[in-house]
Amino acid sequence: SAAEKGGYPSFMLKEIAEQPRAVADTLLGRIDGSGALSLDEVRIPPEALREADKVVIVACGTAFHAGLIAKYAIEHWTRIPCEVELASEFRHRDPILDPQTLVIAVSQSGETMDTLMALRHAREQGARVLAICNTNGSTIPRESDAVLYTHAGPEVAVASTKAFLTQLVACYLVALYLAQVRGAKDADEIRAVVRDLSAISRSVERVLETMEPVRELARALAHKDTVLFLGRHVGYPVALEGALKLKELAYMHAEGFAAGELKHGPIALVEDDLPVVVVVPSPRGRSVLHDKMVSSIQEIRARGARTVVIAEEGDDEVVPYADHLILVPAVPTLLQPLVTTVPLQVFACELATTRGNEVDQPRNLAKSVTVE
Ligand code: G6P
Repeated sequence: SAAEKGGYPSFMLKEIAEQPRAVADTLLGRIDGSGALSLDEVRIPPEALREADKVVIVACGTAFHAGLIAKYAIEHWTRIPCEVELASEFRHRDPILDPQTLVIAVSQSGETMDTLMALRHAREQGARVLAICNTNGSTIPRESDAVLYTHAGPEVAVASTKAFLTQLVACYLVALYLAQVRGAKDADEIRAVVRDLSAISRSVERVLETMEPVRELARALAHKDTVLFLGRHVGYPVALEGALKLKELAYMHAEGFAAGELKHGPIALVEDDLPVVVVVPSPRGRSVLHDKMVSSIQEIRARGARTVVIAEEGDDEVVPYADHLILVPAVPTLLQPLVTTVPLQVFACELATTRGNEVDQPRNLAKSVTVE
């Protein structure tokens, strides 16, 4: 009903708007007075976390993309090797698991059958399983050794938005907690990242305040057949998520690529006026990534692409090559997906609406897939 949608035309728009709150709520109670992490709710003994020699993340759909991003944070902050695998592929290849393996199962609903089967397999092999889940008491957390709940609140729209942002927050928290328990980072460094995380909710809010041009662009591109997405580093999974959203909602052919792979195939797809959305890494710090991305944008533009560039405020270098420029607030590189994903959600939602699609209930899809 209209009342349930809180005045928004769809649950999806309501849930996109709720993201600053969802992000803040997922941090709530998990940071102590001194700014350190307090995650006692993760009931896996610290010794076990110290002894873990591998992290394996299993998930499906949008949650899988959260896992891909988590890998960058986990490996960078903890130096523990981390694999990310589609839950539906995981157990069938006889993965190597033992009590030193920490498996993280990410699921909004907690009922996705592929993810459940993956975690059952992991536990049978003796691995410990931590669930990251948005639904209290659902099957996946009940069958896991421990759970860290995301506090997105109920997500009704089939395509995941606010749950995804909170999955990212939860993954960052787990990564930092592992770093803390293992002494991989000192307390001050961890506090600094926690402070950055605490400021993110406001950045997401600011992104939401500047979305009108993104909606206009979506309306202008609604007649297109294909949209490509490019990213690098943590922007690569964001590109995959942007493409997934277009498939789910707009029923358009959309693909996400790692920008470095362009020359190995995807650049052959570029033709006149093809929209290519590019998620640009921050120009600060890891500027090598930024420079490489600027070259990629130049290359596709020289071949006729219509470039939609998502870049950090103050990134002047990309301006000459952007047919459409979407600016997001500057945040630390690893946390960038929390702000760069939001315009892609809005873009997909508006495209879908313009094309006359039902955004909350896309054809052929279900909110939670309880069959394998
Ligand atoms: C379905 C939904 C997606 C979701 C995926 C995984 O395909 O349509 O939005 O990302 O399931 O769901 P889960 O509940 O496990 O996160």
